[in-house]
This record gives sequence, structure tokens and C-alpha cells, in this order.
Amino acid sequence: MTRKRVGVLISGRGSNLQALIEACKEPHYPAEIVLVVSNVPGAQGLLRAEAAGILATAINHKEFSSREEFDRALNGALEDANIEFLCNAGFMRLHTEGFVEQWRNRHINIHPSLLPSFKGLDTHARVLAAGVTLTGCTVHFVRKEMDDGPIVAQAAVPVLPSDTVESLAVRVLDVEHRLYPHALKLVASGAVRIEGETVVRTSAPEQPPLFSPPL
Ligand code: GRF
Repeated sequence: MTRKRVGVLISGRGSNLQALIEACKEPHYPAEIVLVVSNVPGAQGLLRAEAAGILATAINHKEFSSREEFDRALNGALEDANIEFLCNAGFMRLHTEGFVEQWRNRHINIHPSLLPSFKGLDTHARVLAAGVTLTGCTVHFVRKEMDDGPIVAQAAVPVLPSDTVESLAVRVLDVEHRLYPHALKLVASGAVRIEGETVVRTSAPEQPPLFSPPL
């Protein structure tokens, strides 16, 4: 089995990166992380990568005069490492259209809501304010609009009456750590493929509905 050479883009803590690092240790996992890039120097995720023996580098966006220049430098680092597939994991920069096109259908992101609901920042606060009883997380292919693009996989998390932004964030993050490795495996192994703007899945076993509040 040849593993896909994956680059992970981060800006901070890197807990999703850590989940991907752990998944890649499985003998038959179809991807390996060969490069981690942070746009924020000193990000905790860079230390996680180094601890795992993965090449890690910071490309500080503040040192570039335009988004285009930053993305060119980023692309250069990815090409130097022969990256085949990109995962955004808490990467807090918008990409230029040119970058998005270059990595089209080879680039996924994780967002802590059930997209297309609650795109953008402060997700959990808006989820609580809206009074929905189910939230979750989504892995999707990257398109030029933020948190937009064909959906690879989602996981639902019930919102509890006692939830605060913090408690909800903890429970959703825990599920993100299971969803992202699963989604990367699906795309890297070819178990799902993209046709136009639709992700085509092979048949999956039927699952029961999730009721919140429970029946
Ligand atoms: C996660 O909640 C992810 O969904 C969002 O940013 C957060 C990153 O957390 N895009 P971490 O850096 O992976 O710990």
C-alpha cells in the first residue's frame, strides 16, 4: 500500500493534528503526515509534530505583504515536500482562490458544526443561542468560501440543557478527533470520491436516527 503524503496546516493547539498523527501510526492507514505548517510561530501544534518526528515549520503570514505572497510561500513548502493531500486542522487563514484551485479536491478541512449550518467563528455560542438540540462536526473539501464545500463526513453531538460554550466545545472536539482520522481515511483510500460537487460514497450500513432529547 502506498500512503498518501499529507501536509497539515495549523494555527494553534493542534489537537486535531494529534488525532491524525495517532491514526497514521496504524499499520494500514492510507496516509502519512510528512509536513506540518503553521502560520503562527510557536504554535503548540508545531511541538506536537516535532515530538512525532514530523517536519514542522512556521510561515508567519505577518511577514508577507499580501495573501497571494503568503500562499505562494506556503505552496512552495508543500511542493518541496512533495505533498499530495492537504488537511486544514484549525488553520485560521483564508486561502486565495489560486491556492484553493491548485489543491482542489486534494484539500479538506474540519469545522465544529453540522455544515452548512453555523459556518464561521464562535460556532458553539451561536449554536446555543439558536437553541438547536443537535450539533456536531463536519469534514469537507475546501472551496473558496469559508467552511464551504462537498461534505466527506459528519458526526452529530446532542446539545444538553446544561451546556455552556466550554462544555459543548469539549464534547464536540472529542468527536472531531474521531471524525477527522475517519474522513481522511475515506478520501486517502479512495473509499469516497468526488464527482462534480458531490462526494460519492460506497454503500454504508443503515444507522438508527439520533434523537435529542432522547425518545
Ligand atoms: C477545531 O475545533 C476545528 O474544528 C476548528 O478549529 C479547532 C482547532 O483545534 N477548525 P485544534 O487546533 O485542532 O486543537
